Amino acid sequence: MTHPIQWPAEAIWESVAPQLPGFTVEVLPQIDSTNTELMRRARTGQLEPILLVAEQQTAGRGRLGRDWHSDEGAASAQSLTFSLGLPLAPQDWSGLSLAVGLSVVESLHADLRLKWPNDVWLRDRKLAGILIETASLGDQRYAVIGIGINLLPRDASGLSTPPAWLGEVLPGLTAPQALLRLIPTLVRTIQQFEHHGFSPFQTRFNARDALDGLAVTLSDGMTGMAHGVDSQGALQVDTPQGLQKVTSSEVSVRPLSPPPYEHF
Ligand code: BTN
Repeated sequence: MTHPIQWPAEAIWESVAPQLPGFTVEVLPQIDSTNTELMRRARTGQLEPILLVAEQQTAGRGRLGRDWHSDEGAASAQSLTFSLGLPLAPQDWSGLSLAVGLSVVESLHADLRLKWPNDVWLRDRKLAGILIETASLGDQRYAVIGIGINLLPRDASGLSTPPAWLGEVLPGLTAPQALLRLIPTLVRTIQQFEHHGFSPFQTRFNARDALDGLAVTLSDGMTGMAHGVDSQGALQVDTPQGLQKVTSSEVSVRPLSPPPYEHF
């Protein structure tokens, strides 16, 4: 018999609620997708700050219309999947996903790196992904920040490079422990971003930039050398045509130089 997972909902609530009035924590055994659920709720006017954790997602979503797979029947020992929903009103939204990624890597381990715009890598493999969506209701904007982290090795069939998992650097860290490490810093990061934008995070992002100094090819075919991000989070790429600033999250950036990266 499997034991129910003990989530640190109260400890998370106690550390976050003073900064985020109205904040609640909800854990569901199963849902299609925590992002989909919070977006559905937002469209019906539920705009309170909430952390929604799913022990299992049946239709997890990734960026660019991709799926985010959880192993069939696996509970959250395998991965940690959650979304934080909250009203947000920054002057400039650019760089939010980068700041969120930075918060994830800084909360977890010194070896983790960021692959622009917001994948978390361990060495040359993807360990975690971030999907940010927003809903507007009247003049209020509600952000849903979804994060999926592999904790244990995942079924890699169909993939030429198996994804990384957190147990490689933090053996034994459970999903509840990882969540407790992540959430208070994540909320502080988002609030700092709301007030000051991306620039306070630029230097720290660049210190964790997995692409820095790598030859990359942009989805429009242009190639160049990646050189960190600017104060608004745009990726700077040195190309034969001069320095290009890549801002669109629709642009896919693929390193050219070894090792052979295949998963984005
Ligand atoms: C990506 O790498 O493309 C982003 C993956 C984001 C996955 C997380 S898991 C929790 C939340 N719910 C979802 O359906 N997606 C995000």
